[in-house]
Parts: sequence; C-alpha cells; structure tokens
Amino acid sequence: MTNNKDCRSISFSRKLSSDRKSLRNVEPMLKEIKEMFSLNEELYYNLVITVTEAVNNAIIHGNKFDEKKFVNIHVECNGKLLIVTVKDEGSGFDLGKLESPLLPENLLKESGRGIFIIRKISDKVEFKFTDEGTELILYFKLNE
Ligand SMILES: Nc1ncnc2c1ncn2[C@@H]1O[C@H](COP(=O)(O)OP(=O)(O)O)[C@@H](O)[C@H]1O
Ligand SMILES: [Mg+2]
Repeated sequence: MTNNKDCRSISFSRKLSSDRKSLRNVEPMLKEIKEMFSLNEELYYNLVITVTEAVNNAIIHGNKFDEKKFVNIHVECNGKLLIVTVKDEGSGFDLGKLESPLLPENLLKESGRGIFIIRKISDKVEFKFTDEGTELILYFKLNE
C-alpha cells in the first residue's frame, strides 16, 4: 500500500441484483477494489472468500432471489482498517441459533460454514438488523 492515509479519500459502492449471476461479478468487483485501495494479495484473497460468502447469504437467505430487492456493497477505509459493508433487504435471522460447523453432527454438512469462515478470516464482523434489512460489516486490518 502506498499510504494508508490516502485511502480515506476513496470509497466504493455497487448495487447487485438478487440473482445467482451476480456472484460472478464479485471477483471482478474485488479486483477493482484491490486496485483502488492498493490492497495486497493476501487481503484480496481473504476478501474473495468472505465477500463471496456474504453476498451469497444476502442473495439466497436475505433477499431470497427477489428481483425487486438488491444487495448493496460499500467499501471504505479509515487509514487502519478496510471496512466492507454487505447489505440486503431481508428480514434477518437469529445469530444465537447458528450451529457450529465443528460439532460432530455438522462436520459432514456442506452448508452452514459461511458465517463461521467470515468470522475466522476477517478481523472483526458486525451484524446490524433493521427494518430495512441485514447489514454485515467486515473489518480488515491494513498493513502499516
Ligand atoms: N443475510 C442473511 N439473511 C438472512 N439469513 C441469513 C443471512 N446470512 C445468514 N443467514 C442465516 O444463517 C445461516 C447460516 O449461514 P451460513 O453460515 O452462511 O451457512 P449456509 O448459507 O450454508 O446456510 C443460513 O442458513 C441462514 O439461515
Ligand atoms: Mg452461506
């Protein structure tokens, strides 16, 4: 990164339709973000994994493929952290009811790992549930 302080003047926003095809746009979108914010390869690959999972959840569980609903992505940086927001228009869910994918009975399941992976890879995650939808805010430390 040239200078993390420079990144405070940049922000990125994108609106995705609630279609499986939108998932194909995630990787090119993150490449754009990588270039814009001068991110290193490791952070880029971490974004590919976590943002793909978050957009997947927003389209499938949040918006339930409703074509009238959208997924909004916003990226900004405060000089120390890259802050990625993935927002859907769904009715949310109960975080307390998520099961650990590490429980013996869940080990062989192919679903139920997205949020676990997002939490492991990002430096901090926040969920906001409002009348307008669900917001997932991912924080990633930037190198000095
Ligand atoms: N944006 C969202 N809106 C509504 N429910 C969600 C959202 N993200 C996750 N969930 C709920 O949390 C569960 C776990 O998500 P995840 O760990 O990604 O596993 P999976 O998507 O494979 O079910 C989902 O099955 C769903 O019930
Ligand atoms: Mg998922």
